[in-house]
Amino acid sequence: MSAEHLFEDVDTYINSLFVQADPVLERAIERASKAGLPDIQVSPGQGKLIYLLAKMIGARRVLEVGTLGGYSTVWLGRAIPEGGELITIELDPAHAAVARETLKDAGLADRCEVVEGKGLDEMRALEPSFDFVFLDANKDGYPAYLKQAIRLLRPGGLIVADNVVREGAVLKPSNVDPNAIGAAAFNQALAGHPELEAIVLQQVGIKGHDGLAIARVKD
Ligand code: SAH
Ligand code: DHB
Ligand code: MG
Repeated sequence: MSAEHLFEDVDTYINSLFVQADPVLERAIERASKAGLPDIQVSPGQGKLIYLLAKMIGARRVLEVGTLGGYSTVWLGRAIPEGGELITIELDPAHAAVARETLKDAGLADRCEVVEGKGLDEMRALEPSFDFVFLDANKDGYPAYLKQAIRLLRPGGLIVADNVVREGAVLKPSNVDPNAIGAAAFNQALAGHPELEAIVLQQVGIKGHDGLAIARVKD
């Protein structure tokens, strides 16, 4: 068996052990697929991970940049308590419309707001303080999103960013892929930032080879 297949099989094994079958999440995938959205949402295991991280810090105010059909939004929305608030920013109105349906279906419409617009513009318009920021939109925007995330987060708040390894494309110095350049610049800024403590988790599995960055704002 090739390493790639083995990684996928182990990912599927982990997901089947640790992520319950869930009609709301299944319908979210189906709704997004029917609407022609790309199949690039986080994996079930990644969803569970961001859910757990948000819960572990007792997050009440969560910001997501890059909603797609709201799959990751459901995970994050479920992590916050009643009275909590999640804002998710999405550039594409068709994606935002699917996400709103999915959030209604999940019973989370009262605490999750889908804001249509550019990630950076919408972040600039927000006021502190948030507990948790999940970055998952255009990767060339990540360095600018990072500055805004730090402005918006409380001490002890978390930043999680998807797709920061890109099959190792972040290693290549002369890269013409703006997403890889953005992710590499983001990683560097994260690593050197005096207000943050951070790490990147390299991941392999059903979403291929990529990585999640996790950073905590110092007290
Ligand atoms: N977080 C989602 C996946 C997001 S995919 C999940 O795991 O379920 C990336 C999304 O970012 C796409 O829907 C895309 O339309 C959106 N996007 C791209 N550029 C953007 C920008 N400048 N501002 C906000 N959203 C953007
Ligand atoms: C892709 C994957 C992602 O997780 C994402 O947020 C954006 C794009 C991709 O594979 O193209
Ligand atoms: Mg992603």
